[in-house]
Amino acid sequence: MVSSAFPVTRLRRLRKTETLRNLMRETSVTSNDLIYPIFVEEGVDNLQPVTSMPGVNRIPEKKLETEIKAMYADGVRAVMMFGVSHKKDVTGSDSWKHDGLLTRMIKRAKNAAPDMFVISDNCFCEYTEHGHCGIVEDGHVHNDMTITNLARQAVAAVEAGADMVAPSAMMDGQVVAIRQGLDEKGYIDAPIMAYSSKFASSFYGPFRAAAGCDLKGDRKSYQMDPLNGREALRESLLDEKEGADILMVKPGLPYLDVLARLRERTLLPLAIYQVSGEYAMIKFAAAAGAIDEKRVVRETLGSMKRAGADLILTYFARDIAREGF
Ligand code: PBG
Repeated sequence: MVSSAFPVTRLRRLRKTETLRNLMRETSVTSNDLIYPIFVEEGVDNLQPVTSMPGVNRIPEKKLETEIKAMYADGVRAVMMFGVSHKKDVTGSDSWKHDGLLTRMIKRAKNAAPDMFVISDNCFCEYTEHGHCGIVEDGHVHNDMTITNLARQAVAAVEAGADMVAPSAMMDGQVVAIRQGLDEKGYIDAPIMAYSSKFASSFYGPFRAAAGCDLKGDRKSYQMDPLNGREALRESLLDEKEGADILMVKPGLPYLDVLARLRERTLLPLAIYQVSGEYAMIKFAAAAGAIDEKRVVRETLGSMKRAGADLILTYFARDIAREGF
């Protein structure tokens, strides 16, 4: 009886050379898997650097065509668009108006590069004065009025040319409301990528600055408690029942357990969002000489694929498209 353990078994046999290691690699990340989140600001002339996210700029609306063309030329094939609104009100109504920022930026992007896959973040926090993701009543975000408006915004986005909508408000029933709204208008082919397990995370800090969102208070009554895993599975599986085409876990690295558990329970494609705070940590640590940026990016995105992600939203997407891995 030969033992199947050491010294017969030696795992290092398959790690000897670069070629062999490449042959043995179980997962890979390519530019095809990545979505680039971008911020578009109205009423400004120049690129506005986001100081907490080195390398990220808010794009002036009037320069969007040029920027989208440049991104496409770099190899970016999918963008997630966020508006930086100067016309905020209590409901976020500018986001569903036909001449509002959200619809204008989608039209500009699709005009500039018709083959760019344009995803519209489906939420209100960038368009409301109070910074909450919906209608506030008695100090609380009103669920059912908000989902009606989310459907309205989704229809406006798809009408303007968006290829997909991504509801991120964490309202109950938002996916089914949006699906019904789109279907009623005949947009039966417009897919929904649901931010389904979205946590009330401290990693969104730099995004709030980037998106010009000055939220007072927090989102704990609608986004999930970061310490809950089972509840995240319920959230995501409910979104699947409501008709989501793709489920998303957000943030990324601290929630790989949720992604891996979800991978075992659904056949839907899964996305993960490497959020602003994760990006900032890598950028600032690399700038301080503590880590090698490229290798850490490869490792973190690779870990997301390994945990079960099909798609990854990352602010590194453009660099990767340009420079490769
Ligand atoms: C809001 C939204 C947020 C992010 C994406 N969509 C912020 C929030 O929920 O507070 C965060 C993205 C990031 O941090 O990179 N609908």
